[in-house]
Amino acid sequence: MATAGYNLEPVLLGDRELAQISALVRTKAGITLTPAKRPLIIARLQKRLRRLKLSSYGDYMKVLEADTSGEELTSFLDALTTNHTYFFREEQHFELLAATVVPELRRTDHGRPLRMWCAACSSGQEPYTIAMTLADMTDPPAFTMLASDLSTRVLEKAASGVYRMEDVRGLPLDVLRRHFERGVGEQDGLARVSAALRRNITYRQINLLEQGPGGQPFDVIFCRNVMIYFETDVQQRVVTMLERHLAPGGYLFVSHSESLNSVSHGLKWIAPAAYRKPLNG
Ligand SMILES: C[S@@+](CC[C@H](N)C(=O)[O-])C[C@H]1O[C@@H](n2cnc3c(N)ncnc32)[C@H](O)[C@@H]1O
Repeated sequence: MATAGYNLEPVLLGDRELAQISALVRTKAGITLTPAKRPLIIARLQKRLRRLKLSSYGDYMKVLEADTSGEELTSFLDALTTNHTYFFREEQHFELLAATVVPELRRTDHGRPLRMWCAACSSGQEPYTIAMTLADMTDPPAFTMLASDLSTRVLEKAASGVYRMEDVRGLPLDVLRRHFERGVGEQDGLARVSAALRRNITYRQINLLEQGPGGQPFDVIFCRNVMIYFETDVQQRVVTMLERHLAPGGYLFVSHSESLNSVSHGLKWIAPAAYRKPLNG
């Protein structure tokens, strides 16, 4: 295939530029990229360099510095965040949600809709799994859900609720039938989450390094598989912010590969990677 006009050789990433890129990602997203991540950084940023017709990472850093709109910074962070996710990831948490957390919250919620926050939700599989879990309970609770991420690219996908058939193929057939519409014609090979599930979820860009969404505190917060990319000082900052957003008696889920052991907080461990704020907290 002819490739005239394009230089497909990867651009070299020197130590100084690597250090600058790592520092910028850490400041803006909290994510630590060690020098061992050099090949990953090159793989992910070379598309930006090609798109902008730049021949060095130094020039790219200059573009980022000069970009007052913040658009290139968004693309930069989009490229460097890891968005891997899937439906019913770490499914014990969804079992715990239906069997224990919701019944427990209902004893004290006086019948109001539950307030959920799925922070760092990536392309939506996690908030939709929460919504499916709640909808499939014998007596489904009313709820509202905020789903947020730093990356606007994944939030767009999440809000669309459209997935490739291979992304939903592992789901039980009855779940697929109840909660997805199968695409036909041009949409063949795609599945869309039902409008009934989509309607309860609001998507918003939120950087966990900042203040958080504010407003009414949440009964349940999911914040999973993102703190693994943070060092302890950033984890501490994020956990303190999340704890502040939990209602007394509210629950926080982190991932099974994360633990809150190295940060200080006032939450009580209730199950692997699941914590509760004391009722008088
Ligand atoms: C690996 S995904 C996890 C998705 C989902 N929570 C799960 O467990 O499957 C990590 C997500 O964290 C987001 N992220 C990274 N840094 C963030 C930050 N500072 N604020 C908000 N989201 C962030 C990324 O954009 C990415 O979508």
